[in-house]
Amino acid sequence: MPNYFCVNGKIVLAKNAKLQVTDLGLLRGYGIFDFLKVENGIPLFIEDHMTRFQNSAKEMGLKLGYSVEELKVLVMKLIAKNEFKNGGMKIILTGGYSADGYLPAKESNMIILLNHFKVPSKKIFAKGVKLMLHEHFRHSAVVKTTNYIEPIRMANDLKKAGATDVLYYWDGKISESSRSNFFIVKKDKTIVTPTTHVLKGITRKRVMTLAKEHYKVVEKDITVRDLKNATEAFLSSTTKGTLPVVQIDDIKIGNGKPGKVSPHLNELLKKQAKNYKRNFK
Ligand SMILES: Cc1ncc(COP(=O)(O)O)c(C=O)c1O
Repeated sequence: MPNYFCVNGKIVLAKNAKLQVTDLGLLRGYGIFDFLKVENGIPLFIEDHMTRFQNSAKEMGLKLGYSVEELKVLVMKLIAKNEFKNGGMKIILTGGYSADGYLPAKESNMIILLNHFKVPSKKIFAKGVKLMLHEHFRHSAVVKTTNYIEPIRMANDLKKAGATDVLYYWDGKISESSRSNFFIVKKDKTIVTPTTHVLKGITRKRVMTLAKEHYKVVEKDITVRDLKNATEAFLSSTTKGTLPVVQIDDIKIGNGKPGKVSPHLNELLKKQAKNYKRNFK
C-alpha cells in the first residue's frame, strides 16, 4: 500500500489520512469520485478524468476549490511522494461535515488515494466474460457518484450465476455494466453503444474515436433482441480496456467466443496510451 495519501490538499501519512464521522459521504452517500490508471508514474488521460470530476461536482452541487490544472499538480505531487509507478488513482469529493446531518457543508472534503489493482488476466481476455441482465438504471448516470450499492449487494447472485458482472437494462433498453460501458458489433460490423442512462466513460469516448477510423460507429439504444443478433459484444473501462462479452444470461453472443473487433480496439487503446505517455508533460 502507498505510504501517503492526500486529504484536502495536504499530503499525509496513509495511516493518518482521516475524515470525521459527520462527513456526508458516510452519512448520506453524498459523494463523487473519479478513477484513472497510473502507468510508469504517469496518470493516464488525467485531463479527461479531472474534467469529468469537475463536471460531476458541478452536477451534484458540490464545491470543488481546484481547477483541472491544480488537481493535476496535486496528483503528480502524491505520485512523486510515493514514488508510485503502476496502479490506480482515486479522487473523491464528499458533501463535507454536515451541521444537520443532511445538507452539505460549506466546504467539501477531497481525498486522493493511490492503490494497486488487478487487471483481468490474459486468460479472461481470451475466454471472454458472462454478464447477468438486471433491471435497473442509475440516477444521474452521467455523474460518477460513489453509489455502487446495487451491484455490490448482487455479488452473491452473480457468483451463483457464474457471471462476472451485471448488465443494466431499463424499459427494454440496455445501458451499461456496473463499472463499464457496453458495446455490440452487428453483422455488418457496425459498432453500437447506448447513450441513455450511461456514464460517459473516458474509455468509451476513446474507443469510439479510434473505432471510427476502421468501423461504422453508432450511438443508439440496444434492445435485448439486438443482443441475440450481435456477432460480438464487449465492455470498456479504464481498468479493462475492451473486454469481450461472450454470454448474457442464456444468450450466447455470436459463436460464444471473443471476436476480432474487441482485441483490435484494445490494441489501438494500448497504442494511444503509449503515445500519451511519450508526450506527457
Ligand atoms: C457506471 C460506470 N460506467 C462506465 C464506467 C467506465 O468509465 P471509464 O472508461 O471512464 O473508466 C465506469 C467506471 O468506473 C462506471 O462506474
